[in-house]
Amino acid sequence: MHAAKSFLLAVLAVAPLASVAQAPAKTKATRTAVPVLAATPPMGWNSWNFFAGKVTDQDIRNAADQIVATGMKDAGYIYINIDDTWEGERDASGMLHTNSKFPEMKALADYVHSKGLKLGIYSGPGTKTCAGFAASLDHEAQDAQLYASWGIDYLKYDLCSFRRDQMAAKAPNDKAAQMRMMIDAYVKMGKALKASGRPIVYSLCQYGWDAPWEWAPALGGNLWRTTGDVQANWGSIYNIINQQAGLAKYAGPGHWNDPDMLEVGNGRLTFAENRSHFSMWAMLAAPLLAGNDLPNMKPEIKAILTNSDVIAIDQDKLGREGTHIYSDGEVDVWSRPLSGGAMAIAVLNAGSDRVASHPFHLSLAKLGLHGQQKAKDMWTGKDITLTDNMPIELDSHDTLLVRIASPK
Ligand code: GLA
Repeated sequence: MHAAKSFLLAVLAVAPLASVAQAPAKTKATRTAVPVLAATPPMGWNSWNFFAGKVTDQDIRNAADQIVATGMKDAGYIYINIDDTWEGERDASGMLHTNSKFPEMKALADYVHSKGLKLGIYSGPGTKTCAGFAASLDHEAQDAQLYASWGIDYLKYDLCSFRRDQMAAKAPNDKAAQMRMMIDAYVKMGKALKASGRPIVYSLCQYGWDAPWEWAPALGGNLWRTTGDVQANWGSIYNIINQQAGLAKYAGPGHWNDPDMLEVGNGRLTFAENRSHFSMWAMLAAPLLAGNDLPNMKPEIKAILTNSDVIAIDQDKLGREGTHIYSDGEVDVWSRPLSGGAMAIAVLNAGSDRVASHPFHLSLAKLGLHGQQKAKDMWTGKDITLTDNMPIELDSHDTLLVRIASPK
């Protein structure tokens, strides 16, 4: 027999055995695989940005109703998160009760779940939350079990009083010791949540101090705030965008940088500012937690929050966050690699005046692209051809957001 032919026959004879040998391993992996919690950035609505301390059980039920009625649930918004001010007092056994604004948390969770949605809650590692309500210090396991018994799916854990009543009180002149205390406190609740047996998304809220992106993933954090509190004005939003440059490498499926919740539809943000905010949160693979007045949402705000093309960028399963590529004067250019070799580009005009007589020129070369590119404009839905140094005219604080399916 010809040597090459006998070799081929030998390979063919062995091949089926090899695939049989691999098959059980594959099946086992599939059977035991635990789904990654927050495999894509969590999406939902949180009570704080609109209701702050006034939120009630009824507001949460209304929010759940509205998320369904407006089509936001179909667009991917699943978590309905109660922020601060639901907490009551602890009884003699240490069990925490709700206050009168939330008569029965289990019934509320059942209601939210009956809509196909999930319920989030809020606490912190100190004695008090930011709004001065009971927090979880020395009751971590008890609270985690309580959340699980109610059917809670998400916990935002806010540092707040812990820095004063623990870190500053116990290690007044030792910043490193303070940081260790803070990390230990987050580890403690992370373990308590795991031990509760219920998958609960773990959101760290400590304002981006001491680089949480470096240590939060290891303790089971699914997201961690990278900044102080967002405000419903352009200055705050643009400031936060700039603080994200350099953090992309820390994000990925199950663990995300959190530049804080959405202010889309709040305050006096212009249409351009609202869609730039949303565009950039999508570029940043940020959690999309709306915080607006859902029953009175204007059609243009709903159109922004439910833009499926922009949401698809945010939720891209590759989970790679976008990076700042370059700025030219007041215009910033970011890009984000997407699954299937696609790419998103955001061109943001941070200037306060309209660029008209001399538009910005987009450098494709700086984006690593070679010549003409076929793209889709995520806000008009239209095809657009990008050419090197093409002029781009943008209103003040507006963003051009495009997706290139096959970048060259
Ligand atoms: C902090 C957080 C906010 C909000 C409030 C509630 O300021 O950063 O997002 O949760 O506390 O008191």
